[in-house]
Amino acid sequence: MKFQNILSETNNGITTITINRPSKLNALNRDTIQELHKAFEAAENSSKTKVIIITGSGEKAFVAGADISEFADFSVEEGGKLAAKGQELLFDFVANLSKPVIAAVNGFALGGGLELAMAAHFRVASNNAKMGLPEVSLGVIPGYGGTQRLPQLVGKGRAMEMIMTAGMIDATQALEYGLVNHVTTPEELLEFTEKIAGKIMRNSSVAIASAINAINANYQDGENGFEVEIEEFGNCFGTEDFKEGTQAFLQKRKAVFPGK
Ligand code: COA
Repeated sequence: MKFQNILSETNNGITTITINRPSKLNALNRDTIQELHKAFEAAENSSKTKVIIITGSGEKAFVAGADISEFADFSVEEGGKLAAKGQELLFDFVANLSKPVIAAVNGFALGGGLELAMAAHFRVASNNAKMGLPEVSLGVIPGYGGTQRLPQLVGKGRAMEMIMTAGMIDATQALEYGLVNHVTTPEELLEFTEKIAGKIMRNSSVAIASAINAINANYQDGENGFEVEIEEFGNCFGTEDFKEGTQAFLQKRKAVFPGK
């Protein structure tokens, strides 16, 4: 698949998607969002992909936000559509993928950039990363899930303060807030993230997909996470991965999961 604004590469089970507009600090314009949708969809459907890493190109930015130049003259209706379409194509889409998505935050993650990192299943940051939702400084609010996912990750009070002040926090503070799970040097960011991906890949991809679904259920309106967990737990017993995992344990050998 050929892209203009992103790169997508798969090696040893890991698909790394890199937003590649460094001269615009990887700002998310319409085309980039479309391409990201296609790349994530392809990775979700590829038997070669077990884990997806999303990152930004260059040393300065993961993503410095939605492309402000594209929506500066939008009407109320166009603004609403922009948020709805973006959430459908990218942010909710990523959050609900059945394959693990890790954001490797390599610099500024602002506005839509932090929202994309938060839509990933978890985050690793380099120590030069800066994160924030500066939308109110532009007279708008986060529209790609930021008002919902930030409080889920850092708590309501911290999210309120971050959004109201439009300020940025550094990687150390993001770690303290639980917004990122690990902080590395910029040089080690991808290698470190790939190591975590390697640990994930040793496990059953079928069970991992069930776990993602059950965890996400807690954050979906009208869903009872405990009920979804019970259903997914039961479903696992009908899978080849479960047979292999339990047999391997009893036979004191390493499991070789067949997957889907
Ligand atoms: N949308 C569109 N273009 C953006 C952008 C965005 N969100 N963020 C950065 N860019 C562009 C700049 O316009 C500039 O382009 P130019 O060279 O053609 O003028 C280029 O990226 C480099 O950015 P610049 O502002 O010169 O870099 P800096 O190091 O001085 O500042 C930031 C870095 C991140 C502090 C600054 O770019 C910024 O505040 N960006 C907007 C952040 C934001 O409000 N995001 C939320 C959007 S809803």
